Amino acid sequence: MIKPIKLAKKNFLSSLDTSIEELTHILEIADNFKKKKLNIKYTDKVLGLIFDKSSTRTRVSFQVAMSRLGGTTIDLNPTTSQIGRGEPIKDTARVLSRYCDVLAIRTFRHSDLEEYAEWSTKPVINALTDLEHPCQALADFLTIKEEFNGFENVALTFIGDGNNVANSLILCGALLGVEVRIACPKGYEPNSLLIDKAYKIYNNKNLLKITNDINSAILGAKVLYTDVWSSMGEENQKDKKDKDFKGFTIDSNLVNKADKDAIILHCLPAYRSKEITDEVIESRKSRIFQQVENRMHAQQALLSCLLS
Ligand code: CP
Ligand code: NVA
Repeated sequence: MIKPIKLAKKNFLSSLDTSIEELTHILEIADNFKKKKLNIKYTDKVLGLIFDKSSTRTRVSFQVAMSRLGGTTIDLNPTTSQIGRGEPIKDTARVLSRYCDVLAIRTFRHSDLEEYAEWSTKPVINALTDLEHPCQALADFLTIKEEFNGFENVALTFIGDGNNVANSLILCGALLGVEVRIACPKGYEPNSLLIDKAYKIYNNKNLLKITNDINSAILGAKVLYTDVWSSMGEENQKDKKDKDFKGFTIDSNLVNKADKDAIILHCLPAYRSKEITDEVIESRKSRIFQQVENRMHAQQALLSCLLS
């Protein structure tokens, strides 16, 4: 029977914090948890959650994943803890790592997350920063793997903002050797440092394309993925971005230009009729709620590897 193996790195801050072998292992463990083939307990282990931004899926899927592992969670937010008062990260991290066995943190600046990790003696997980959303990417590639029995000949096209979700798809895709195409309006390309890192990982550099042309990006795509145009923290840019992203909505017309077996993904929450239509979310090609469920299985696998 397969068993979770400890990861080489202490933390999971980025999609690049696992090797390709470790990433493949996490996806396999997740599959085993989902099929109820693996029953492993981390009784008395405690996961501390710090959410500086709102969350439904990430918070609940972590709580349930930890409960399925026999452990418990403590949910902290800035208003009910001393974090909002401005207690330094280096103090909060040292305090919480005396009580908890692992921490999952959602915050704005990626450098703040790195500071938590530097001062915490326990593993720190990125539950979303402005730069990356690596737990989301685990669930996304688990969903793709389930659908196509692997990643061979799968082209994933992300249409929208070059944001945290796009960045993690690029990095995870590079590790797994999956073709990733990002179609975004000019000026909204993903983080250039992460793109460079991804190109260094790909054996075949043609497998990553960043373009402003949706039509070329969509041709033959097996996965169409989108996310909100304005992320949390960008509320004041909403009007401008809504204008700049005109024509980047995933609607039925666009879906029909992709591969006939293409599936639709969205990390949620969505703004229906902006980045994606209601009809596409509810269509038979949508795997969005399977993707939602996979957050829990993927994070259960990640936690089990970090706690082993
Ligand atoms: N996809 C995702 O991270 O959703 P939440 O913001 O609800 O956690
Ligand atoms: N890009 C979005 C993802 C939400 C899960 C955000 O950061 O708000």
